[in-house]
Amino acid sequence: MSVLIAPSILSADFAGLGDAVARVERGGADLIHVDVMDGHFVPNITIGVPVVKSLRRIATVPLDVHLMIEDPDRYIEAFADAGAAMMSVHVEVLPHLHRTVHAIKALGVKAGVVLNPATPAATIQDIAADVDYVLVMSVNPGFGGQTFIPRSESKVREVRALLDGAGNGAPVEIDGGIDLHNISRVVAAGARMVVAGSAVFNTPDPERAVRELKAAALAAVPPVAVPR
Ligand code: DX5
Ligand code: ZN
Repeated sequence: MSVLIAPSILSADFAGLGDAVARVERGGADLIHVDVMDGHFVPNITIGVPVVKSLRRIATVPLDVHLMIEDPDRYIEAFADAGAAMMSVHVEVLPHLHRTVHAIKALGVKAGVVLNPATPAATIQDIAADVDYVLVMSVNPGFGGQTFIPRSESKVREVRALLDGAGNGAPVEIDGGIDLHNISRVVAAGARMVVAGSAVFNTPDPERAVRELKAAALAAVPPVAVPR
């Protein structure tokens, strides 16, 4: 599998979301990462179902919806109806994670689970066979533009090993503080979906930023051994 780049619109100008999406799509964005925050699980409040619905009308790539909310079970159906292709939920808020993951899948949406920086990789051991992807947070969720937490690199390796151990080839996604300097390391560690917010939208040319991140990511994928 190659590496998918998922620009996070959190760092875009919300007055021009359509333009922001078009720009990153021109640069080769594979997904649009949508950060939903409720002011409870995380300190910030961002966007909700109506915005996802509008984005679905204009985006040509799938919407990757990251739910940083306290009670995701209440909202997964609404986000699915709004057009989320992928939805990830935090393990920290879900005592019945297995039920939630399967409820997301039953809606025809790819189901991801998210680990905060202080949540051990082993937390997902018993759900590893069921998930469509695992999102490793490389900052504490809540805001764009934070600094990458170095330990996240080995966390990606641990999650990859857990998924492999469960016989699940589902990709590992990474989110937080990713830029041109560290993207190679996280891809080499096994990340195959990479979220980037400020490294894309806090630049004069988001289209170019996506193109450069993607080139760096693809260059870092270890070569596959070709049998002779
Ligand atoms: C953080 C969000 C991220 C954020 C990434 O809580 O989940 O998706 O937008 O932004 P950067 O790439 O600036 O860290
Ligand atoms: Zn996110």
